[in-house]
Amino acid sequence: MNILVLNGPNLNMLGIREPDIYGHATYADLCGMIQGEADRLSVSAEFYQSNHEGDLVDAIQGAYGKKDGIIINPAAYTHTSVALLDAVKAVGIPTVEVHISDPDQRDEFRKVSYIRKACVATIKGHGLEGYLEALRLLCANKTV
Ligand code: DQA
Repeated sequence: MNILVLNGPNLNMLGIREPDIYGHATYADLCGMIQGEADRLSVSAEFYQSNHEGDLVDAIQGAYGKKDGIIINPAAYTHTSVALLDAVKAVGIPTVEVHISDPDQRDEFRKVSYIRKACVATIKGHGLEGYLEALRLLCANKTV
């Protein structure tokens, strides 16, 4: 299996940004953790982070015909982006939405997720472990 792991804006600042919410591990630590689980599961993982909505759309489109699953933390674009929703719908690749925190327990404006409609599952509030859960879920449901 080939999995694409996408992270949206400000997630490159993990370890620096609001550690009380997002913890002390860095983006590199996160990728290392996911890679470790991917190795354990014998799947291939590719990582991409961008602060730019269009770049994330391009990455989703680029996965068409190449990837079997997408794990995405769209970060702030969760709450604003119809373009990301449409991109996931367009490629039809099983996609899991992940959030480190639980946006539903935070500000009102974080309760909306546009991309959720196109995702096979949402994992939120489980910290970085949520990405590993998403990977295991995609591997367990190869035909979701
Ligand atoms: C986040 C939650 C979003 O509301 C926020 O904008 C982020 C990170 C999370 O992982 O908890 O940047 O997606």
